[in-house]
Amino acid sequence: MPIATIILAAGQGSRMNSDLPKVLHKIAGVPMLGHVMASVAQIEADKTVVVVGHGAQQVAALATDIDETVSVTQQDVQNGTGHAVLQASELADFDGDIIVLYGDTPFIQPDTLTDMLTARAAGNDVVVLGFEATNPGGYGRLIVTDNKLQAIVEAKDCTEAQLAVSFCNSGVVCAPAALLFSLLGDVEANNKNGEIYLTDIIAIANARGLTCAAIHCAEVETMGVNSRQDLAVAEAAFQRQARAAAMENGVTMTAPETVFFAQDTVLGRDITIEPNVFFGPDVTVENNVTLKAFSHLEGCHISEAAQIGPFARLRPGAEIGGDARIGNFVEIKAAQIDQGAKIGHLAYVGDAHIGEDTNIGAGVIFCNYDGVFKHKSTIGKNAFIGSNTALVSPVVIGDNALIGSGSVITKDVPADALAVSRARQENKPGMGHRMMQRLRNLKAKK
Ligand code: UD1
Ligand code: MG
Repeated sequence: MPIATIILAAGQGSRMNSDLPKVLHKIAGVPMLGHVMASVAQIEADKTVVVVGHGAQQVAALATDIDETVSVTQQDVQNGTGHAVLQASELADFDGDIIVLYGDTPFIQPDTLTDMLTARAAGNDVVVLGFEATNPGGYGRLIVTDNKLQAIVEAKDCTEAQLAVSFCNSGVVCAPAALLFSLLGDVEANNKNGEIYLTDIIAIANARGLTCAAIHCAEVETMGVNSRQDLAVAEAAFQRQARAAAMENGVTMTAPETVFFAQDTVLGRDITIEPNVFFGPDVTVENNVTLKAFSHLEGCHISEAAQIGPFARLRPGAEIGGDARIGNFVEIKAAQIDQGAKIGHLAYVGDAHIGEDTNIGAGVIFCNYDGVFKHKSTIGKNAFIGSNTALVSPVVIGDNALIGSGSVITKDVPADALAVSRARQENKPGMGHRMMQRLRNLKAKK
């Protein structure tokens, strides 16, 4: 059966107190809407419509940036969740099931969506995703009798008895497209908020003699974000789960509570992560890598058995070869470091290619930026760049070349050559002692 999804993301999120639309706030380095779209991508939906309103342009830009096949529709006035779904009218004659999701509920898992589709295929006309709430508060209550979902009642419209129900509405709904739009056609705005509620389709479906079901998922999946406090709680929940998954998959972490992953971090096996390592988006780490304490990684790929840190910073485009060593206070950006190369201490490597087994000494700087343009330098295999060398890019250093420390290299160095570019040392016998004496005498006279 073809599947379409509608992601509601038009709300203002006023409690975020932000110029940024709510669904663009990030959890684990990725906007909330990105988390929802990642789950949708995994169930291979045939079509996705994102309903935008507040901050429409920014939200639409992110949605189409993540997946250029999604369509975006505008809800000019936020007149309720049912009204929002009606804006996706291009799906009214879609020949399949629709799943409605919320942009501010980022953790719904693909397996849970598949469970909903299974419940639909088992003969339920409408399937709603519910959860047992520790604190039901303002959630809509799911009214179930004989395993059939009779109605969803918003907290504001609940009776005392209904408020006592702890089985709550996550907001995720699945129904055939034609039925969903037909049911919504009957919804009226007769509630305390004067809005068209998506949740009202359940009572209407029951009145038509149709069958509705509610399935359960873990509360953590349905966590919604309405404030910065919620955002921090959601971040913590994500990290807890990501750390547990990493360890489960063969990663050793001495202090897991101090390690922060991104939503898309990819880790191999037998990796060791020391305390306080931070992963930004788009990091892949292969097997047997050691990430030492206080390293900061984003947009990089680390190959098998490399050793990184402590205190290393890998920025976007850092491609680290197998067995390479990147030591303390080394920053690498847009650079390929080949197998076995070593950059041990206090260096900046930007826009460069470093060949196999080359050694970059302490304090080496790739001067890649002239104030207007960026330039790339290439170092061959097995070269040795002495400490405190400045490589003024673009330069090409050949295989096995040796550069004397403290050099400022502005010209290419051929393979096997020694390059030294600094003033020659001059020793003046006795002069050091005499100068010191003169200075001490001056001080004594003061
Ligand atoms: C909704 C449900 C409630 C459920 C809760 C779960 C309804 C009527 N209520 O309540 O049963 O327990 O979610 O979190 O559906 N949106 C639009 N346009 C609108 C209104 C909302 O796009 O006109 C979007 C919001 O941006 C948000 C989502 O729909 O992503 C949910 O809206 P929200 O106002 O947060 O609904 P709740 O009151 O939380
Ligand atoms: Mg909400």
